[in-house]
Amino acid sequence: MTALQHAFSLPLSTWRSAVYLVAIVGFVLALKGLSFPRHARRGNLLGAAAALLAVGMTFSAGTVSHSARNLALAFGAMALGSVVAVPTARLVKMTAMPQMVAMFNGVGGGAAALISVTELLHGHGIGVSPATYVIVEAMLGVLIGCVSFAGSAISFAKLQELMPTRPIVYPAQQPINAAVGAGILALFVTSVVTGSVAYVFGVLGLSLVLGVVFTLPIGGADVPVLISLLNAFTGLAVAASGFTLGNPLLIVAGTLVGASGMLLTRLMSKAMGRSLPNILFSAFGAVVTATGTAEGLDGKVVKTSTPDDIAVLLAYARKVAIVPGYGLAVAQAQHVVKELADELMTRGVEVFYAIHPVAGRMPGHMNVLLAEANVPYDELKEMDEANPELPTTDVALVVGANDTVNPAAVDSPGSPIYGMPIVHADQAQHIVFLKRSMRPGFAGIDNALLFDDKTVLLFGDAKDTLQKLVSSVKAV
Ligand code: TAP
Repeated sequence: MTALQHAFSLPLSTWRSAVYLVAIVGFVLALKGLSFPRHARRGNLLGAAAALLAVGMTFSAGTVSHSARNLALAFGAMALGSVVAVPTARLVKMTAMPQMVAMFNGVGGGAAALISVTELLHGHGIGVSPATYVIVEAMLGVLIGCVSFAGSAISFAKLQELMPTRPIVYPAQQPINAAVGAGILALFVTSVVTGSVAYVFGVLGLSLVLGVVFTLPIGGADVPVLISLLNAFTGLAVAASGFTLGNPLLIVAGTLVGASGMLLTRLMSKAMGRSLPNILFSAFGAVVTATGTAEGLDGKVVKTSTPDDIAVLLAYARKVAIVPGYGLAVAQAQHVVKELADELMTRGVEVFYAIHPVAGRMPGHMNVLLAEANVPYDELKEMDEANPELPTTDVALVVGANDTVNPAAVDSPGSPIYGMPIVHADQAQHIVFLKRSMRPGFAGIDNALLFDDKTVLLFGDAKDTLQKLVSSVKAV
């Protein structure tokens, strides 16, 4: 028998395991690709191809034993999901990406919870006692999946401004949350001890409540971190449902999502200079302290300028740092900011972009935007690499950034952002802010840098102002 004949004579289960192994390797390589902007698109495509391969194998002849009716329902659900998801993902604005991630993540968690419930009841039925380990893994899938589903739904509503984005606090909040947690634990333990699967409905209901009450007090700038954490929860729920189904592919894929979600959550908390418990339990953002006026607290008034004057400053500078923030994304000014940088570089000015890790509203927001405008990666300097350059920089051009350059993070111990590392735009010789008004950034606090003697403001939409700057620089 040749090797090929031997391969074809192998049972389907061996083929399935081999294909799943290839998909798992695909997922790992996809994550590796996603770790750097240059390879991110390839990584994304590889992950999608691996998922397609895994789904194809799962539905291939002989692998599924369900009735034709169930298969029709499954394909119908997949078609419906695709009809909703494909246009949503294509049309979503970059600034609305966090809520889209929340929505997709939530349905993933909900699906994992439902799989655990149906497997527990389908495989065993009420009145039949499954092995303890089956109850534990299924209940964990239900608990984590439901918290992720309900928490993601609340996060979506907050980011979409369907409900107040600020932390929602009420009397006896912590004891209520603790009581809900204790109720779930009691049902969980009773189910394990008695071997009755009927308690799964109680766990399901209380876990949904826990997802809501756990998420309500988290608001403002902390919501994206919460979404990353809930994403990790969904991964764990999927891994738990993989144990219930005896499917190693789901176990590995879920664990990869869980681990990478936890790492991302840690990175985001660190970049905001806060601990995870502080983000989850301190109701940050409840107090908004900004005056939002052109007159500073100590009577200082902001200085404004004109595009023509700033163009001269930029054109005769030796080194310029562009500090992008959320406003760049809102204005969709990534192409015109590159045009300005290119124009300055042709005049011999050294230009680099100083990227804060939480500039914008999602991880890598600025990198993705600037990559879209084909800004070369070697012009992007991460905060730690950019900061030593700023004392020798002539002009820091702050385009729609605010909190991420706010010196209060360094010198005001009482400030809600105290401890957050910042891009030290304040150390440049001149600072130019491009923003529309005196409104504060996401943290809702004043920024003393706007009133600094070295600072001038160009009020207006960042895209319009940058277009004027490009024309003025060309005319210098
Ligand atoms: P922000 O502090 O939010 O400031 C954005 C600035 O852009 C505002 O000053 C706003 O002022 C201006 N702006 C908005 N639209 C504009 C437009 N069309 N043209 C010109 N300017 C415009 O931004 P940042 O410095 O990027 O900081 C990000 C914040 O989000 C931080 O507080 C961070 O902790 C939080 N956060 C981020 C993440 C991630 S992962 N990125 C996660 C959680 C929290 P005007 O309204 O006056 O124009």
